[in-house]
Formats: sequence, C-alpha cells, structure tokens
Amino acid sequence: MASAFSNLKESLVREPQSWAVTGAAGFIGSHLLEHLLRLGQTVTGFDNFATGHRRNLEDVRKLVGEAAWARFRFVEGDIRDAEACRRAVAVARYVLHQAALGSVPRSIADPHTTHAVNVDGTLNILIAARDARVKRVVYASSSSVYGDEPNLPKREDRVGKPLSPYALTKWINELYAGIFMRTYGLESAGLRYFNVFGARQDPEGQYAAVIPKWTAALIKGQPVRVNGQGEISRDFCYVENVVQANLLAATAPEAAGHAFNVALNDRIDLNQLFEHLRIRLLPHFPHLKDVRPEYGPYREGDIMHSLADISQARKLLGYQPTHTVSQGLDAAMDWYRANVAV
Ligand SMILES: NC(=O)c1ccc[n+]([C@@H]2O[C@H](COP(=O)([O-])OP(=O)(O)OC[C@H]3O[C@@H](n4cnc5c(N)ncnc54)[C@H](O)[C@@H]3O)[C@@H](O)[C@H]2O)c1
Repeated sequence: MASAFSNLKESLVREPQSWAVTGAAGFIGSHLLEHLLRLGQTVTGFDNFATGHRRNLEDVRKLVGEAAWARFRFVEGDIRDAEACRRAVAVARYVLHQAALGSVPRSIADPHTTHAVNVDGTLNILIAARDARVKRVVYASSSSVYGDEPNLPKREDRVGKPLSPYALTKWINELYAGIFMRTYGLESAGLRYFNVFGARQDPEGQYAAVIPKWTAALIKGQPVRVNGQGEISRDFCYVENVVQANLLAATAPEAAGHAFNVALNDRIDLNQLFEHLRIRLLPHFPHLKDVRPEYGPYREGDIMHSLADISQARKLLGYQPTHTVSQGLDAAMDWYRANVAV
C-alpha cells in the first residue's frame, strides 16, 4: 500500500500550493525548501541569517535548478519584526515555522535573546498567519519540552518541568499555538524534534549540534569531547524524516491541535555515535584509525536519555520514517566530507 507521504506528494504535484518557510536559510528550513520546490510548490522563505547561511540557499538553488528556483521568493527579515512577518506569510496557505535560536547552552548564556526570538517571534508569526487566513501553521517544537519527565519513551501527553530557557520557549510556543486555535480558529500542529541531523547542519560555532561538531573535529584531526562517559543517549533523526513529518502535519486532517514527537523510536549512546562517525570517515581519513574521544563534565540543562514514542505521529499523520540512523549518517557523512575544509 502506498504511504501517506507518497500519496501526499502526488497530490501536491497535481495541485501545487503556496508555502512560507521561516528559517529557510537554516538547516531544517533549507531541506523543507528543497523538497517543496522539487514538488512544484511556490515558497516564500524568511530568514535574518542569525544562524543560517546564504550558502544554504545557494546549495538548494543548485540542487533544484533555475526553473524550480523561480517559484521561490525570499524575505530577509527578523521574526521579531511584526511587519516583516506579515510580508513573509501574506500569500501562504501553509506556514512551516522553523526560525528560532536553537541550543540549550545559548539560552542559558543569553535567556533574553532566546526568549525574544523564540517567543515574541513565534507570537508575531501566529498573529500574521491568523490575519492572512493561513490554513495551518506547523511549528518546530522540541524534545526539550519533556524536561525532567523521567519516563521513556517520551509520550506527548506526559511533559515535565522545562530544564532550560530554550525548553521553556518551546513549551510557550505550544501553549500559544493552542490559544490561537481556541481563540481565533487558527489551525496549528507542533513538531517535537529529537536531535535532527543531515547535510547543511552547521558544524561551526560554540553552539553546534553534536553530529556536525564531532564530524568536523574528526575530519580536521581535532579532539572530540564527550559530556560524561558516553552513556548519554539520544533518538537521532535524519532530516528527511523531519521533512516528511512537516508536510504531513500541514495537510493531515487530524493533525491540527496536536504536538507530535518526530524521531525514530530508537536511540544510541554517545560512544556508539562516535564509532558510527569514525567508522564511516576512516576509509577517507586514515588518521582516525586509533582515535578515541575525550571525556569531560556533563553539561547544564541536558537530560541523560531521550527516546520518542512515535505512535501518535504514525496514527494521526501516517508518518513512516524512511531513514534509519545508519542510512542518515551515510548520506550526511558524504556531505560533510565534501564540505568541511580540512
Ligand atoms: N536541529 C535539531 O536537532 C532541532 C531539535 C529540536 C528543535 N529544533 C528546532 O527546529 C528549528 C530549526 O532548527 P535548525 O536545526 O534548522 O537550526 P538553524 O539554526 O540551522 O535554523 C534556524 C534558522 O532560523 C533563522 N533565525 C534565527 N533567528 C531568526 C530571527 N530572529 N528572524 C528570522 N530568522 C531567524 C536562522 O538564521 C536560521 O536560518 C528551530 O526552531 C529549532 O529550535 C531543532
């Protein structure tokens, strides 16, 4: 039987729609942009390049070709600017809201900016979407909303106390989305991403995510630092699964009003992750033959283990992840080998 996602893709090709993607120059946003343009959709991208890059947009342009690129319009602006938000969503039927300042440590170092972008910015997007009569807003939430909830796997209806300003901003986003649905009838669906990875995820900077950061360090022959003894575990999710979840959440009849875990329901620990990366890079970088990670202190605001129950996304969205961690890492490592300067 054809999957919900293949049926959706066929129907989008038959009847193209208009989309707005906030954070389009970022990692996940640029993948959404790429897939939507490949499917013949019209897309407005919105970004201020705070953590995203023009080179990501250029990459997508090369990948999709000029004919598809002609269906893309870009609004450079800040989601803290209400007027810019209005311009970005003006003609959209669906809004995929990805723009935010990610990273737990960044939010601990500067809670004010994380709050302003993630909370005030999302409120601006919801108001703009309401006023433009957008059909549905899908917004990026996070597994961090589970906070100190101890049970595994994480189920959408059991949420603990947030452990960082970042987690709190994502939780407030969910509450605001609920308020906008009940008060103004604006449909929305939240996606609680669990450690997403893939091409174009930025390896640079102190707030880089673990997979790009370690991959770049290994390629460059720099030390890899593990927080703790390597026993911290995560449900790592390849970005193509995340694209699928976004498109389904925008269109599935029963998605509105819910938040969904987006992951694999499979977890690996940091020692296993290190080996996954090392083994894949070793044939190209012989200096990795005997390399081992360095172990250090745990990081503030981090949870020990993370594993998602994805049955709600399977049931209400028809979500069926297409890539395991291994398959995703194969694809991601090819990209990092080609794009990280030694
Ligand atoms: N990558 C993950 O593992 C993960 C996990 C959980 C949640 N998320 C969420 O998913 C979304 C996308 O994350 P990502 O990994 O692609 O990060 P990213 O940093 O690559 O992308 C975020 C994009 O938002 C843009 N942006 C930031 N502040 C902005 C502002 N004030 N105005 C306009 N644009 C702004 C950035 O320039 C960037 O292009 C974020 O909301 C993030 O919190 C990501």
